[in-house]
Amino acid sequence: MKTLLNDADSAGGPEAALSGETIRIRGGRPLRGRVEVKGAKNLVTKAMVAALLGDTPSTLRDVPDISDVKVVRSLLEVHGVRVESGAEEGTLHFDPSGAVAAHFEEIDAHAGASRIPILFCGPLLHLLGEALIPDLGGCRIGDRPINFHMDALRAFGAIVDKSYEGIRITAPDGLHGANIELPYPSVGATEQVLLTAVRAKGTTELRNAAIEPEIMDLIAVLQKMGAIISYEPNRVLLIEGVDSLRGYDHRAIFDRNEAASWACAALATDGDIFVGGARQQEMLTFLNVFRKAGGWFDVREDGIQFRRGDRLTPVVVETDVHPGFMTDWQQPLIVALTQAQGTSVVHETVYENRLGFTEALVQMGADIVVHPQGIDSPERRVPRRALEQAAVVTGPTPLHGAEVVVPDLRGGYSYVIAALAAQGESVVSNMGIIRRGYEKFFAKLDALGADFDVIG
Ligand code: EPU
Repeated sequence: MKTLLNDADSAGGPEAALSGETIRIRGGRPLRGRVEVKGAKNLVTKAMVAALLGDTPSTLRDVPDISDVKVVRSLLEVHGVRVESGAEEGTLHFDPSGAVAAHFEEIDAHAGASRIPILFCGPLLHLLGEALIPDLGGCRIGDRPINFHMDALRAFGAIVDKSYEGIRITAPDGLHGANIELPYPSVGATEQVLLTAVRAKGTTELRNAAIEPEIMDLIAVLQKMGAIISYEPNRVLLIEGVDSLRGYDHRAIFDRNEAASWACAALATDGDIFVGGARQQEMLTFLNVFRKAGGWFDVREDGIQFRRGDRLTPVVVETDVHPGFMTDWQQPLIVALTQAQGTSVVHETVYENRLGFTEALVQMGADIVVHPQGIDSPERRVPRRALEQAAVVTGPTPLHGAEVVVPDLRGGYSYVIAALAAQGESVVSNMGIIRRGYEKFFAKLDALGADFDVIG
């Protein structure tokens, strides 16, 4: 029997909607049906920050109802930006004309909630001459240092001071174009440079930039605002600073991480899921691996249908920056690989601690051995990174229910689909973390026929 979902959840309503933190799942039932994905969390939150750079209001469409968006909305509001929801579901309007410096207490109230506050630096420095950054949050998947961000800001002429309040950044003489080479194509540091360089005096050259589709979409947003950004071969971005930018009207790129998550849910539970809004182009690498692992998909005009083919087969994958296999895709894939006939290897090369979630899968019956220092494998495309780890997954192993606690966004999602694929009952707690990145999560599970109750 299913506990009735909060109506507001099904209707995409307010915060109260997904208040449950703990769910009980009765597994063994394939997920079948249709879900829609909206704008990408990893673009939407950055485009919201970009609205601060405009002289006129901006409109962002397809904004998902997730808690990361709420955190950024609230941070914009404490800086005097008026944020209003539009008539079309998922539309937000931003009016930055009243932007002001925020009090430390107001900013600090968001400490630990998200990693996005760090991207406020450039826009706030241009607007107000200073920025205050609280302790950052986000998933605990490694050290997640911010040295690339701080080095880049210094290259633009900013002064970075660490105080008891957090990090205080000032630019008494304004910001000038810079010549920057990132030690690694970091997504966040590339966004930091873009959001700062567009209004700096002179030209910025960024080498070894991240080129994820969400970054290209952010570049599209900034170009709509009046920025001049060219994308050169070999990960080079050239940004010619301009004196002023206007607001934008933009529909966010779809969330390919969410699309890949549901695809893996279909694979793991032997289900059949149509993901409305998913597009092939940005998922080419994922689709190749999905097919090699025994998945079947059909690309249609309005989305992609995913299910199992004849049987699941083991694969060797390594996570990488775009156009490689994203680090956010490995967790749900690993659940499916526990049901493949043979041994798979997943090399995690982006974060140094993103395989810890597998412990709970082992508790559920999976055969997964994590090698904290990584392992060699003949299929390697790139040399090993110092950070990396590897998971060796041997299947098929029947999964059984367990009590598990969501550790981080993608790991948590993988626990839910493992519980859905498992025989028996599981209790999954700390579900609030999943709300950071998956919109209407319970409503979607319900629509796909999952058997679960919200119990706490
Ligand atoms: N790094 C540094 N120093 C820095 C910045 C990064 O050493 O100053 C290292 C990180 O520790 C990591 C690697 O560089 O080992 C890559 O980090 P990156 O900066 O690319 O990641 P991010 O910007 O913090 C975003 C997404 C992540 C996604 C990664 C990789 C957002 C809000 N987060 O993080 O998404 O995994 O890029 O694509 O955009 C998620 O959605 O669950 C998630 C964690």
